Order: sequence, then C-alpha cells, then structure tokens
Amino acid sequence: MSSKAVPDPLVSAAPDASANSDTSMDERLFRRACARFATGITVVTLLDSQGHPHGVTVNSFASVSLEPPLVLVSIDLRNAILGHFISSAWFAVNILAEHQEDLSRRFSSAAEDRFVGVEWTTGSTGMPILAGALAHLECAVTRTFEVGDHTMMIGEVRYAEYREGRPLLFFESGYRNLG
Ligand SMILES: Cc1cc2nc3c(=O)[nH]c(=O)nc-3n(C[C@H](O)[C@H](O)[C@H](O)COP(=O)(O)O)c2cc1C
Repeated sequence: MSSKAVPDPLVSAAPDASANSDTSMDERLFRRACARFATGITVVTLLDSQGHPHGVTVNSFASVSLEPPLVLVSIDLRNAILGHFISSAWFAVNILAEHQEDLSRRFSSAAEDRFVGVEWTTGSTGMPILAGALAHLECAVTRTFEVGDHTMMIGEVRYAEYREGRPLLFFESGYRNLG
C-alpha cells in the first residue's frame, strides 16, 4: 500500500522570502492599502460560560468553503472577547444592514455591557442574534489558530437566515452605503 504525505497547510505555509528581505512592510502603508478593500460589517456574538451574551464588531469575515460550509473570522489577540471565543463551541455572525451603524459603533466601543438597549433574540444554537440584521450564520467552532497578532476562528455553519435589504459597508476607514 502506498501512502502519500499530505502537507499540513499551516506548516507548509509559504516559500522562504528571505532572499527578498529588503521588502519589509510599513504598517501605515499596509493599513492604507487594505483600507481600499471594501467590506461589509458583522457583529460576531456568543455566550460565555455563565450564559451572558458578548459581541464584537468584525469586518474580517469571509466564507472559505462550501462543502463543508465554513466561514472565518479573525480576532485581535488583545480583544477581551477572545477568552470567551476560546472557550465557546459556537458563535454567530450577524451581517449588519445599512441602518445599523450604531450597532457597529456600540460593539466596537468600550461600553461595559454592549447588549444594554440592543434588541436581540436567541438563535437555533442559543447564540445571540441581533434584530434587523441582514443575515445571520450560526457556526460550530471547528478550528482556531494564531496567525501573527490575530486568532483565526473557523466555524462550520449550521443555521443561516437572511432577508432582503442593503448592507452597511466599510471603506477607507469609514462607514458607507451602497450607491
Ligand atoms: C468596522 C470595524 C471592523 C472591525 N473588525 C475587527 C476584526 O475583524 N477583528 C477584530 O479583532 N477587531 C475588529 N474591530 C475592532 C473591535 O471591534 C474592537 O477592538 C473591539 O472593541 C474589541 O473589544 P473587546 O476588547 O471587548 O473584545 C473592528 C472595528 C470596527 C469599527
């Protein structure tokens, strides 16, 4: 029987770029270039071990696989919510509608309890779902790994719902609407 070693994609990351070591990246340039990439905005929510809801504004959301249906969010290692992510088997991604800029601001603010005054319900998996969101995806955590100064959370989508509407966008460090 022949067996072929399948390279771990995390181990076999990238070719050695040391030959071009004069290409160190200026952080401001990196941020400005990335800010030219328009994104939607999500609030990623979960429950802590006591059943309290937590949420954080995230635009590093991406769908990464159809079969199985996988999504990715990237969480800054400095974010307080990360501890809850690490111990939670589930999270929900709430995709914000264009009228929900206030929610984006609230869930990226220093507010003690970001859910005070926020309308939300409980999804099929028990995750907090924000009222009026354009869509939500409830995900089982399948993998987490640190890359640079962030933790990648890969979730398998178990439930999803959407409604018609227009998205809240983020471009060049500012909130935008379509057209
Ligand atoms: C538009 C927008 C997008 C953001 N995207 C992310 C993101 O993808 N990942 C992340 O870790 N933080 C992101 N943040 C920052 C967090 O929302 C912010 O640091 C948050 O207050 C952290 O709170 P915590 O320390 O209570 O977890 C974003 C903020 C804004 C306004």
